[in-house]
Amino acid sequence: MKALVTGGGGFLGGAIVRQLLERGADVRSFSRGEHPWLKKLGVEQVRGDLCDLGALRRAAAGREIVFHAAAMPGIWGPYAEYHRVNVTGTGRVLEVCRESGVGKLVFTGSPSVTFDGSDQDGVDESAPYPARWLAHYPHTKALAEQLVLAANGAALATVSLRPHLVWGPRDNHLVPRLIARAKAGKLRLIRAPGKRVDSVYIENAAEAHLLAAEKLAPGATCAGRAYFITNGEPLPMGELINGILRAAGLPPVTKTLSPRTAYLAGCVMEGWYGLLSRRSEPLMTRFLARQLGTSHWFKLDRARVDLGYEPRVSIARGLEELARYLRESGRA
Ligand SMILES: NC(=O)c1ccc[n+]([C@@H]2O[C@H](COP(=O)([O-])OP(=O)(O)OC[C@H]3O[C@@H](n4cnc5c(N)ncnc54)[C@H](OP(=O)(O)O)[C@@H]3O)[C@@H](O)[C@H]2O)c1
Repeated sequence: MKALVTGGGGFLGGAIVRQLLERGADVRSFSRGEHPWLKKLGVEQVRGDLCDLGALRRAAAGREIVFHAAAMPGIWGPYAEYHRVNVTGTGRVLEVCRESGVGKLVFTGSPSVTFDGSDQDGVDESAPYPARWLAHYPHTKALAEQLVLAANGAALATVSLRPHLVWGPRDNHLVPRLIARAKAGKLRLIRAPGKRVDSVYIENAAEAHLLAAEKLAPGATCAGRAYFITNGEPLPMGELINGILRAAGLPPVTKTLSPRTAYLAGCVMEGWYGLLSRRSEPLMTRFLARQLGTSHWFKLDRARVDLGYEPRVSIARGLEELARYLRESGRA
């Protein structure tokens, strides 16, 4: 398989690259930066921005499949920038796939594209996109996903995977943030009795991408469809957070906030940061408050049947792997 992974130097893109290499694929990565560890693995890197058609053409030349994992993540930043990277960038990736004769595109979406701020208990892929958005990230990921699914056809088969709350070794978002906030004494749990959330261990999320790539073809069941990808083990958010802190050798967080206080804090911080045009992410936003204070777990039936997906690494084993990684890399 001759594959291009956009964002191959990132957390999830990197795990996809490693699994592709293990299966003997010829892998190229596309991103703005140079990632030395990719070079060590012999992965060719094409550098450029997702909106740079020339760079994308060089990256896609001769490739059979594109895993489009690059995106602007996070929950804070100007709408124009989220739109440019996540929507315009995805449109350019699709354009270049068509021009270059790439036959398949596996897009990394997000379950947050269906989140309207209320509980999601055992939701399946029939959940609609909401009418309003609490953050630019889910909004622009939803617009991008719609472009990807609409592009599915005889020449280019497309699929979108929606991994929820990815964590594990080499995580550069959730795990380091939790550790830093816990060490600074700034971490609070939101009181959400009876609420559960899904998450997915990094290797399971990456494997789902490879399974989708195998099944994807024009007219295949998965072509033109979106799939939730999780560990299938929804937990109270506090249990997951404290599991990660335990893996980092830190005590559990016990201080709590009410969902209402968290939401109000999110409103105030968003207003304040907006007024001051601050680029750094506020400690709380409306989206984060709702994400931490509600249930969001998803049915895996469609992924199991259509992709043959099964979360092979349990949360308990994933936490052991995370603890080992944090110890060995001096982060715990
Ligand atoms: N982590 C999660 O919990 C989670 C959950 C659901 C969905 N996802 C999705 O999974 C994908 C990967 O996320 P991640 O967590 O692995 O994030 P990540 O580690 O930040 O990786 C994203 C990669 O995209 C590249 N990138 C960003 N902007 C770019 C641009 N303008 N042009 C070219 N490359 C660009 C970055 O590389 P350079 O900086 O070198 O350009 C980065 O390595 C994203 O599509 C995200 O929406 C993640």
